[in-house]
Amino acid sequence: MSSQASKENEKIPNRALRVLSGTKPTGENLHLGNYFGALRQFVALQDEHDTALYFIADYHSMTTVRDASQRRQNTHAVALDYLAAGLDPERAILFRQSDLPEVTELTWMLTSVTPMGMLERAHAYKAAMDKGEDIEHGLFTYPVLMASDILLYGSHLVPVGRDQKQHIEMARDMAQRFNRLYETDALVLPDPYILDETATVLGTDGQKMSKSYGNTISMFAAKGTVKKAVMGIVTDSSPVEDPKDTTQAVFEIWSLFATTAEREEMFERARAGGLGYGDVKKDLLARLMDYFEPMRTRRATLEEKPEEIESILRIGAGRARELAVPVLEACRSAAGLGSPSA
Ligand code: ADP
Ligand code: TRP
Repeated sequence: MSSQASKENEKIPNRALRVLSGTKPTGENLHLGNYFGALRQFVALQDEHDTALYFIADYHSMTTVRDASQRRQNTHAVALDYLAAGLDPERAILFRQSDLPEVTELTWMLTSVTPMGMLERAHAYKAAMDKGEDIEHGLFTYPVLMASDILLYGSHLVPVGRDQKQHIEMARDMAQRFNRLYETDALVLPDPYILDETATVLGTDGQKMSKSYGNTISMFAAKGTVKKAVMGIVTDSSPVEDPKDTTQAVFEIWSLFATTAEREEMFERARAGGLGYGDVKKDLLARLMDYFEPMRTRRATLEEKPEEIESILRIGAGRARELAVPVLEACRSAAGLGSPSA
């Protein structure tokens, strides 16, 4: 792990750590970056910890998705992705962010301890400014809502890709400020959980794989679409007989589906020369389709049962609320909000 648990969280036994993460329902197919950078860890951590919460960040989608039925559809799609990938409602709490509007109350409390300068340094905001986009307040204040997502449930560990690390550091900072200002320990200080090997999965053009760069390889798209993306991975133009540079995206992406031993063997062959990129891509496509096949099948079965998905999310919201209420009450009480309890 690139980010070890901080001093406070290090002392807590593994099983007692609370894990939480979320995904924005933007309507895009999940890609290899989402899966290897985040979702695969969600699944692993639900087994290692007694409390794991994974939600669908529909409030967050409001900065980009402007159509109600589209949002509902996208939210449902993320729930399907979660379950297809192996999240289990028996082992993890799966819920929809907006089923707990309490998160917006904590957001407000946090906004009043968050310096403007901190938000002005946020990568997502700076990137939007650089592009000269028309920015709404929702985008600017996004890290505060994200902090509230994490802090409301007393989360210790937040599995994400490296691009989200800054947001978690901000959440930590906000929690510290709130606790210090109101002399309380109501808010737990969270740590990011980022695996070095998959912190940044490369896209077909060699940059970070991201929806915004159009360089993704999807997990669940039709085979033809996946094939097109795989065959389109950019490589250098060295002829077959030449030794190959193994830092190229095609080798990195192929390695996601290989064991360490297979990787070493492949890299040796590549360095020796005589290996064609076309063969590596074909093998990658076969491995990728095999790897995701059971998830595709599960997803197709679940698609037939929309009521079951709704029921899972409703039950999840109830369980999440049990964890949220004491935290929110402690914050309200520390800050002197609401009628004093008798
Ligand atoms: P995108 O960059 O495609 O918009 P999101 O921001 O929706 O992806 O990311 C959802 C989750 O997947 C986050 O935890 C994020 O850190 C992770 N993630 C996205 N892209 C990558 C990548 N290329 N490598 C590692 N993790 C990633
Ligand atoms: N910002 C995250 C992303 O773009 C999604 C998210 C929202 C999240 N709230 C969160 C992730 C809380 C972890 C914890 O991927």
